[in-house]
Amino acid sequence: IYILLKLAILISGRGSNMNAILRAVKKQNIPIEPVVVISNKPSAKGLGIARKYGVKTEIVESKGFQGNRWEYDQKIMDVLTKYGITSKNCLICLAGFMRILSPEFIKKYKNCILNIHPAILPAFPGLDAQKQAINYGVKYSGCTVHFVDDGVDTGPIIVQALVRVKNDDTEEALTKRILAKEHKAYPEAVRLVAQKKIKVVGRNVKFLS
Ligand code: GRF
Repeated sequence: IYILLKLAILISGRGSNMNAILRAVKKQNIPIEPVVVISNKPSAKGLGIARKYGVKTEIVESKGFQGNRWEYDQKIMDVLTKYGITSKNCLICLAGFMRILSPEFIKKYKNCILNIHPAILPAFPGLDAQKQAINYGVKYSGCTVHFVDDGVDTGPIIVQALVRVKNDDTEEALTKRILAKEHKAYPEAVRLVAQKKIKVVGRNVKFLS
C-alpha cells in the first residue's frame, strides 16, 4: 500500500533550503504532506517563511536546555508525535539545523532523516565546508543530500551536485553558488524519497525505475 509521508523540517536559521523544499512540494506536486517546521531557535528567520506556506511551526529551544542530547531529542519526538508523525510515515529534513542528533533518535527514525551538506562528501564533513574546500584547493566542490546515520555527514548519499571552484574564489562567493545548487538538490532528494524511487542497501542508495 502507498503511504503518503508526513514531512517535518528542522531548522536553526535562515531556512532557504526549507523554503526550496516547501516551494517544490507545492509547485511540483511532490506527494508528501508538509506538517511542521521545528526550530531550536526562536529567532530563526525560516519560521516566518514556513507560516507563509501555511505550515505549522514549533520551537524546541536548545539554549539553556538542562538535559542531555537524548533528552532534548525526546522533546523533538514529542512534537513529531503530536503531529501524528511516526517512524513509519515520516520524512525528517534537517535544513541548517545546527545540532547533532542522538544515536537513539537516529535509530528510531532510521532511513527517515535527510541532511544537506555544502560539500561533495566524503570530502569536508563538519563545519565550514566551503572554507575547507577553498583552503584545500579542490577544483570542484558542491553539495550532498544524504540519509543521516550516527556519524557526522557520513550517511548514504542520495543526490550530489558539483560547483567549479574558481581562481581566487572567496568563501562567500563559493557558498552562494553552492547554495543555488542546494536549492535544487534538496527538493530532488525529497521527491525521490516521497515517490519511493530509492532503496537503501547498506550505505548505498539504489534508484528504482
Ligand atoms: C546550508 O548551507 C546547508 O548546506 C547547511 O546549512 C545551511 C543552511 O542554510 N547545512 P538555510 O538555513 O537552508 O538557508
